[in-house]
Amino acid sequence: MGLLSHIMLGVSVAVLVAYFMSLKKNGGSNIVSEIRKKYDYIIVGGGSAGAVLASRLSEKDDVTVLLLEAGGEETENSLYHIPAVCFILQKTEADWGYYTEPQKFSHFGLNGNRSYWPQGKVLGGSSILNAMIYNRGSRYDYDNWASQGCTGWGYDDVLSYFLKSEDILIPTLTDSKFHNTGGYLGVSHARVTPFVDYYLKAAEELGFKIVDYNGEDFEGFAETQFTIRNGVRSSTARAFLRPAMNRPNLHVITHSRVVKVIIDRKVANGVEVIHGGRRYQIYTSKEVILSAGVIGSPQILMLSGIGPKSHLDQLGIPVIADLPVGDNLQDHLMLPVLTRVNITGSVTEKAMLSWWTSAQYYLFGTGYLSSPLVEVVAHVSTEENKEVKSAPDIQFVFLSGLPKSNDLYDVREDIMNEIHSKLPEEGFYAFVALMHPKSKGTIRLRSRDPFDPPIIDPNYLSEEEDIKTFIKGVRLLEKYIQTKTMQKIGVSFDLLNITLCGAHVFLSDAYVECYVRHMATTEYHPASTCKMGPPEDPSTVVDPQLRVKGIKGLRVVDASVMPVLTSGNTNAPTIMIAERAVDVILERN
Ligand SMILES: Cc1cc2nc3c(=O)[nH]c(=O)nc-3n(C[C@H](O)[C@H](O)[C@H](O)COP(=O)(O)OP(=O)(O)OC[C@H]3O[C@@H](n4cnc5c(N)ncnc54)[C@H](O)[C@@H]3O)c2cc1C
Ligand SMILES: *[C@@H]1O[C@H](CO)[C@@H](O)[C@H](O)[C@H]1NC(C)=O
Ligand SMILES: *[C@@H]1O[C@H](CO)[C@@H](O)[C@H](O)[C@H]1NC(C)=O
Ligand SMILES: *[C@@H]1O[C@H](CO)[C@@H](O)[C@H](O)[C@H]1NC(C)=O
Repeated sequence: MGLLSHIMLGVSVAVLVAYFMSLKKNGGSNIVSEIRKKYDYIIVGGGSAGAVLASRLSEKDDVTVLLLEAGGEETENSLYHIPAVCFILQKTEADWGYYTEPQKFSHFGLNGNRSYWPQGKVLGGSSILNAMIYNRGSRYDYDNWASQGCTGWGYDDVLSYFLKSEDILIPTLTDSKFHNTGGYLGVSHARVTPFVDYYLKAAEELGFKIVDYNGEDFEGFAETQFTIRNGVRSSTARAFLRPAMNRPNLHVITHSRVVKVIIDRKVANGVEVIHGGRRYQIYTSKEVILSAGVIGSPQILMLSGIGPKSHLDQLGIPVIADLPVGDNLQDHLMLPVLTRVNITGSVTEKAMLSWWTSAQYYLFGTGYLSSPLVEVVAHVSTEENKEVKSAPDIQFVFLSGLPKSNDLYDVREDIMNEIHSKLPEEGFYAFVALMHPKSKGTIRLRSRDPFDPPIIDPNYLSEEEDIKTFIKGVRLLEKYIQTKTMQKIGVSFDLLNITLCGAHVFLSDAYVECYVRHMATTEYHPASTCKMGPPEDPSTVVDPQLRVKGIKGLRVVDASVMPVLTSGNTNAPTIMIAERAVDVILERN
């Protein structure tokens, strides 16, 4: 039993409060029991993208919108709204609970060489499970999309859609032209330890800028911005969907698993959905929009006959469109670097469980429970003397505590025991994450059964270059912990010394490679399985209007359309994609 399970006990008081906050402030729900035969728009999946789409499309009162979600309502569990408990939501009913296939080049320190992939299964989707880091990515990410033929998705095109969602609650940023107030999505800091000052001071010592990474400069170190409003998670369900829930033109049906798009002569006419053990056909007069996420959307497409021909042939699914659905899977891999410190003030188990922590959250919505604890993020480039301006390739994430848990990553017991036996009270995690992986993977169907979990193979670290970049990232972190500021608080790398890699000289390139191949795991940012781009490009699935190529009335709007993964966390970019999609769908450009 680690910190994470103990948090469960510690939040008892806070739970009651969050419960009332979530139910009272947000009005009722109009989860309908009567399904109409036909809607203008059918949205499949009420996650980060789907909840935004449903809210925005139903603003037009002359259209009817149906949102179908496989999971339940986000109001059913008050823990969904408390920032610090985000990680104990994994492996619950709000999570699809996927595992990757055993990996050939990574995950040697994880059970079965597989990693656990949580994905939200509830209104709000993965925005209910995520760590709430608000990160739009680099302007070069979007300019790169545009240069690959994603017309309309350059940075200057998408900025206004980021702004549209936002309600910046950080006083120093309210006047910035890169931020906006009054949007649905609350964005705030959640600093709860004095470690923030050390992280930033050490960065300055090394010559890094302290930036607003969602503003002018992406590169540098920063206090993290979170999708949190008054100590409560701004999930897309709570922020976007609830305010729209009473509209008569919006129907939301939970516990509804879409198994297929109904396609007749290359026109999407509706969907087939399992609800309460029965199968229904629901039709559309305009379009079906898949927002089922990076696994769900390709899965539904392939079950409907849209996907790689050879794969569909193998399963005996009649091919309607031969497209590279499920290819191009990308994810950020991150390496947990545990460090010890010789000062106090990190978030310890004891601090998290104290009555004061609960009381503070209960009374003021502040304190440890109000923060995901990843207090500082940094984006740095390992390329020296870069000629062309481009997005940084490494992200550091600093978590101000050393929670003891192996249930999260499925780390092998022998390794976990060794690490736990050395774990000090006080310290922090510095995660090193690879932003532009060269290695790509696939999503495929396991069978024709829609309830069979798809085959997820990220193929992490299959490209040698990814290891090289990781090593450079770790070298940068080594320099960082050698700064005066870090040395003064007694930071060291000694927790990285595990017997498993003992055959190599500690911290040599070979040692770091060994450590990475054993211990690096997902940063939970899979994307890009329904690639957007010019229709003539054989690697694309949707065009820049997000229409599935060759099929009328069918779009994909979620993280799976990103042609290339952004250089940061993926929730804000996904929300932006949905915001812009609405204008594209309604032809409001
Ligand atoms: C643990 C974790 C931590 C993360 N941390 C961060 C972070 O700190 N910052 C950040 O920016 N990003 C983070 N992310 C990533 C981010 O949350 C996702 O990229 C984003 O939510 C993806 O949005 P989406 O709309 O594509 O999919 P989702 O939000 O996953 O939504 C898909 C929805 O479709 C539903 N669905 C799927 N299949 C079907 C079906 N057949 N029928 C009906 N409904 C279906 C699902 O139940 C779900 O509700 C994190 C993710 C996880 C899992
Ligand atoms: C995991 O990887 C190791 C190292 O390559 C290998 O020896 C082992 O057989 C793999 N286990 C599984 C379950 O794939
Ligand atoms: C922490 O360690 C550093 C380096 O060894 C030392 O200079 C410093 O005095 C220590 N601080 C405390 C509070 O022990
Ligand atoms: C790493 O740990 C091993 C075993 O505990 C120990 O013998 C070795 O000296 C350590 N190496 C370093 C560089 O700390």
